[in-house]
Amino acid sequence: MATPPVPAEPCIVVIFGASGDLTHRKLIPSLYDLFRQGVLPRGTQVVGVSRTEMSDAAFRDKLAPSVKQFGSHFEPQTWADFSRGVFYHAADASSPEAMAALGQRINELARNAGILKGGSPNILFYLSVSPNLYEPIIAAIGEAELVVEGKRWCSINPAASSWQRVIVEKPFGTDVASAVSLNKALGRVFEEEAIFRIDHYLGKELVQNIMVMRFANAIFEPLWNRAHVDHVQVTAAETVGVGSRAANYYDSGAGGALRDMVTSHLLQILAMVAIEPPSAFDAAAIMREKIKLFGSAVPIDQHDAARHAVFGRYGPDAAAKQPAYVEEQGVDPSRNTETYAAIRLEFDNWRWAGVPFFLRSGKKMASKLTEVVITFKRPPTNLFRTFDADAPARPNNRLVINIAPSEGISLRIDGKVPGAGLKIESAKLDLDYLKAFGGEQIEAYAPLILDAIKGDRTLYKHRDEVETSWRISQPFLESQELRRAIANYPPGSWGPAQADALMACGHRQWHNPKPHEVR
Ligand code: BG6
Repeated sequence: MATPPVPAEPCIVVIFGASGDLTHRKLIPSLYDLFRQGVLPRGTQVVGVSRTEMSDAAFRDKLAPSVKQFGSHFEPQTWADFSRGVFYHAADASSPEAMAALGQRINELARNAGILKGGSPNILFYLSVSPNLYEPIIAAIGEAELVVEGKRWCSINPAASSWQRVIVEKPFGTDVASAVSLNKALGRVFEEEAIFRIDHYLGKELVQNIMVMRFANAIFEPLWNRAHVDHVQVTAAETVGVGSRAANYYDSGAGGALRDMVTSHLLQILAMVAIEPPSAFDAAAIMREKIKLFGSAVPIDQHDAARHAVFGRYGPDAAAKQPAYVEEQGVDPSRNTETYAAIRLEFDNWRWAGVPFFLRSGKKMASKLTEVVITFKRPPTNLFRTFDADAPARPNNRLVINIAPSEGISLRIDGKVPGAGLKIESAKLDLDYLKAFGGEQIEAYAPLILDAIKGDRTLYKHRDEVETSWRISQPFLESQELRRAIANYPPGSWGPAQADALMACGHRQWHNPKPHEVR
């Protein structure tokens, strides 16, 4: 049975990492947008926490230009109303004493706003700091006893007491061991239901879109299995390079395309395509199916990983006078960090056994797009063989699910060219969601933050999902052979040529659309 929707209650949103890029570009603009739309519960207050000393007024002044630039529809009066509820607190959040002082400030703000609940405030902590601070900050929250109710799933009337939740940004660990350690640190302080592991790809309408396509229609599901599907591709390509993120993150051992994109975002997209129908459209049911799916991934031996994956890194762009990845500031070429990763996975379950799933992501690629391509098997025989010598050259039937930049689906089928004789060609049936249904594209963070305030984890990840995702990636991460074979690719291309061989079968090819024909 689905959990009934819960009304959003006002809370104190505490952002650790208040001076960071994410706070300025995404978090505050999203909270402002929620306020502007009238969906942020009245009385909600925001506290930014960072080490630098700063007054509330100075913090608000620093945020205003970001909201103008990154929020939608900046309205001076609305900003003035919203920012009256935005505060700043200078602290080393990893210190329990400093956390206790922050706790007092939170209580005071909640009291002034009249939003104490049973004597304590609802708090949404947001960890947007360097990942090495996650565990100390979580421990400090625990020591300062800011999580009031503790094991509240078994309390008699949880609705009557305040809640404390935490949103954790990626990277959620860098391998299995660090993800397990972080989950344990979180579990010592928060209930699993109070932990919101964010993946902004899940905020891209993707979950709802794929689920609606699969389960609100009767025509897809009968084909959605090993009897009809030849293979599945999931691509997230970007045209930007790594640039200034190289030194602090990407080349530090925490980055690289496999960790940064494939293990997090791409496996989540794949899950939406490949899970069994959940028993309800709610967090628990969807998470259960994702965990089941990831658990059925065919294990790959580390020594065999190079046969199932290709790593690449972009070369220089002489025309644009842009450096190769290895020349970006802060990059240690000997690490062989990949800016492109393609992997091949299989799932040993009743539906998908023997169907390969190809996942790839890269920087400085030919187009910015995120898509899923379901390629179907060919007809068992060609009835038109005497007229149709071109049949082998035409693409198989395929369904392309476009996630970004535009949302839509297209189905490629063969049809008869009008006129005398029997000439067959391939064509597309196209559905663009925005054109068909209207509405507006949303910024992923705003609805995700609102969901956390409501306690809805449907678009968030469970502990076991995160750990099993790392288990899937671990052999690729550990394979020295794979890393040594890292290949350069020209910027603006579709990645290294070696990735074509990964398909390992004549009729299979990567779907590399031209920029003007994303679907
Ligand atoms: C982030 C990665 O999670 O997603 C970045 O850390 C990447 O490296 C970004 O650029 C891509 O997000 P989007 O929404 O632009 O596809």
